[in-house]
Amino acid sequence: MSFIGKSIQRIDAVSKVNGSAKFIDDYYFDSMLYARIFRAPVPRGRIKNLDLSAAEKLAGIKGIFTAKDIPGANIVPVVEKDQPLLADEVFNFAGEAIAIVVADDPDIAEEGVSLIKLDYEELPSILTIEDSINKTVPDICSKPDNIFSHYKIRKGDFEKGFKSSDISFEEEYKTGYQEHAYLETQGMIAVPNPEKTITVYGSMQCPFYVQEGVSEITGYPLSDVRIIHTTTGGAFGGKEDVPSIIAGFASVPAVILNKPVKMVFDRAEDIMTTSKRHPAWIKFKTGFSKAGKLLAIKVEFYFNAGAYSTLTPIVLWRGLVHAMGPYACDNIHIDAYAVATNTVPCGAFRGFGTPQVIFACETQMDIAAEKLNLSPIDLRQINILKVGDSTGTSHDLDESVGLEKSLHLAADGIDWKNKFIPPSEKTGRKRRGVGISTLFYGVGLGAKGGMLRRAGAFIQVYRDGSVNVAVGTTEMGQGSNTVFAQLTAEALGCSPDNVTILPIDTSRVPDSGPTVASRSTVMTGNAIRNAADQIKHYLLLGASELSGKPEEAIELIDGRVLTAGNELKISFIDVVEHCFNQRYHLTSQGWFKAPSTSWDDDTGLGNAYFIYSFVTNTAEVEVDIETGEVEVLNLVSAEDFGQPINPKMAEGQIEGGVIQGMGYGIMENLYSEKGIFINPGFSTYLIPTTMDVPLVKPIIVNEGYSKGPYKAKGLGECPLMGVAPAITNAIYNATGIRVREIPALPELIIKQKKE
Ligand code: MTE
Ligand code: MOS
Repeated sequence: MSFIGKSIQRIDAVSKVNGSAKFIDDYYFDSMLYARIFRAPVPRGRIKNLDLSAAEKLAGIKGIFTAKDIPGANIVPVVEKDQPLLADEVFNFAGEAIAIVVADDPDIAEEGVSLIKLDYEELPSILTIEDSINKTVPDICSKPDNIFSHYKIRKGDFEKGFKSSDISFEEEYKTGYQEHAYLETQGMIAVPNPEKTITVYGSMQCPFYVQEGVSEITGYPLSDVRIIHTTTGGAFGGKEDVPSIIAGFASVPAVILNKPVKMVFDRAEDIMTTSKRHPAWIKFKTGFSKAGKLLAIKVEFYFNAGAYSTLTPIVLWRGLVHAMGPYACDNIHIDAYAVATNTVPCGAFRGFGTPQVIFACETQMDIAAEKLNLSPIDLRQINILKVGDSTGTSHDLDESVGLEKSLHLAADGIDWKNKFIPPSEKTGRKRRGVGISTLFYGVGLGAKGGMLRRAGAFIQVYRDGSVNVAVGTTEMGQGSNTVFAQLTAEALGCSPDNVTILPIDTSRVPDSGPTVASRSTVMTGNAIRNAADQIKHYLLLGASELSGKPEEAIELIDGRVLTAGNELKISFIDVVEHCFNQRYHLTSQGWFKAPSTSWDDDTGLGNAYFIYSFVTNTAEVEVDIETGEVEVLNLVSAEDFGQPINPKMAEGQIEGGVIQGMGYGIMENLYSEKGIFINPGFSTYLIPTTMDVPLVKPIIVNEGYSKGPYKAKGLGECPLMGVAPAITNAIYNATGIRVREIPALPELIIKQKKE
C-alpha cells in the first residue's frame, strides 16, 4: 500500500500553525449583529415577569427574543425532545437560557442582558445524585421518579455465580465532572438568504444534528437549512449536541430581523452552561474462583444527567455495555440509571460514559488481584477477551482482538517486572508505584444508534487530475481529513497532494450521522472507498484503452500507471484526461451502511457494536505521602485499533488522549455552590499543562478488522478512557492508599491515608 500506514504530514498543519485557518469568530458578514444570552439565576424557578423595557431602550439593541418569539418549535431535538431552546414558564438549571439579546455590538448586547429584570419564584431543586434517587423533590424532569433512563444486563445467574465464588467483595466509587476544555469556545453565525432559506456556519461535530435543530427552531424544511462546518478548535464530544443550541440562538434573531447574527460564547459562559462528562456513583461487586476466574459481576450505577435528557440515554447505554470490562464472565447483573438534577445537562465526552465504569471496574480488578495473591497482569491474562470469547453482552468475537498483545506490550513498556513491588516494601516520603488497566471500546454508535449506521462521501475528479472529496463527518483536530485524503489517494491511485477535502456542507452530502464514537475512519472511510471504486472502474477502463493492456493487469498507484510491476509511459493525469474525452463518469456518491448489530432490552444481550478496539494502559507515579501530591512519571498506552492509517497522527491521538485522561483522574475538578460552578476558567479549573506532562509511550497494536477500510477500526476516544484507574492503581502500589473517588486530588489522598 502506498499511503495506508504512512505518516504523511497533516493537511491542515500549516494553516493551524501559522494562524491562517479561519475559526468562526474570524468570520464577518455585512450588517452582522451579535447575540448574548440572559440566563436563569438559580437552579429552579417559575418565571413571574420578565421586564425588558430598560434593555430595549438601550441604543444599539436590535431586538430581544423569548420563547414566545421562536418561529418554529421551542425544542432542541436530541434523543428525547424534552429541552426547550429558551425556558418558558419554568427553568430547570442555573444558567438556562431565557432570552436572546441582539445588538450591533457584542458589548451593547451584554449590557442589554444586564438590564433585563426577572421576577421569579424559586422552586425546590435537586443538586445531587443521592437526592435525586431519594426524590427529595419529586418530578423534576419529563420522566417518572426523576429517572431519565434505565438499562440493564441480565446474563446467567449472578447469585449462583457469587455462591460458587471463593472470594467476592463490593466497593463503591465516585467520579466527578469533566469539562471538555476545547481551545475554541462554542460559536455559530446564522445568515438568512433572500429566498427565505438560512445558512449557518460554525464550530461543531455534527452538522446534520444542527441542520435538524435549526429546522425545528425556524420551521424551515431541512432543504432550506444549510449548515457549513468551519475549522473547529477541539470538541471532544462537547460539540455534539450543544452546537444545535448555539445555532438556535443565532438563527431565531437572524430569521426575524433578516440579518446575519453571530453567537460566540465566552469561556465562563461555555463552562457554566454547556455539557460535561456525567458525574457517577457506582456500586460494584465481583466474585472470583481461587484461581482468579471471574465468576460473577453485579453493578449498579447512576449518572447525574442534569436537567434535561439530551444525549444521556446513549451515554448511559454505552456505560452499561462496557461496565463489566473486557472480560469473559458468564454471570452478569447490571443496572444503569440516569437521574435528573437541577444542574447543567451532561452529555458526550470522549469515551461516552465508559471512563466512569472503567475506573470502577479496573480498581475492582486491582483490589481482587491483591486479595487473590495474583499479579494484576496475571489476573487479567486469565480473564481478558480473546478471539473465540464472548463479551459481557454475549457478542462472540471472531476477529480483531488485540487485547492480550496490548496487555504484555504495556506491561513491558513500563518495566512492570522490575517495578511492581508491593506497597508494604516502600518507605520514605516520596514513593513510586506502577498501575495497570485494560479496556474495550465498541466503535460507532452501536445497536442503540442503529438508525445512524450510515455515512456518505462525494468524490469529483477534475480533468487536471485534482480531486475534491466531500464528506459528512468533521475534522475537529483528530486528523480525520488527513486520514480521508490518504484513503482517497490509496483507493483512486492518485497522490494525497491531488486531494482536497472540502469543508462540510449539508447540501453536498447525504446525512452521514454524527462525528462521534470514533466512527469516522470506519464509516466515512468505507463511504470514500465505495465512491472511489465507482470512479476507479472508469480509470482502469481508460488506462486499458490508452495502454492496450488488459484492465486486470493494470495498477494505479500514487499517480503512476503500472503493469506487472513496470511503470507505463502514461500517468494518472493522462488517464483522467482520456476519461474526460470519452465522457466517462468521474464523479460519484459513495455510501456505507455499517454491519448490523443487535440488542435485547430485557436481557441486555446482543452484538452491541459491530467491532471493538482494545487498550491497555500502564502508569508510573511518584506520590508525596505528606502532601498527597501525585506526579505522573510515565504513561504507556498499547492500543489495538486495527490498521493505523497514519501512525504518527495516531500516536498524537494517544498522547493527547492519555493526558486528558490524566487530568480526569487526578486534576480536573469543577466546584459548585448552590448549583452554580464557581471555577469556570482555566486559572481555577486546572487541566494538565506542558509542565504536568509525563513521558508518554504510545504503542500501536495492529489486529486488523476485515470490514474496516484497509482493516482500520476507530481510535479517537480510546486513549483517554482507562488512564485514571491505571494512575490510581499506581498510587495504591506506591502508597497502599486506595483511591475510590476521582479526581484524586491531594486532599483526597491525605484524607484516605488517615482513614
Ligand atoms: N482529538 C482532537 N484533537 N480534538 C477532538 O475534539 N475528539 C475526540 C477524538 N479525538 C477530539 C479528538 C472524540 S470525543 C472523538 S469521538 C473522536 O476524536 C472522533 O474522531 P474519529 O471519529 O475520527 O475517531
Ligand atoms: Mo466523541 S464523545 O464520541 O464526540
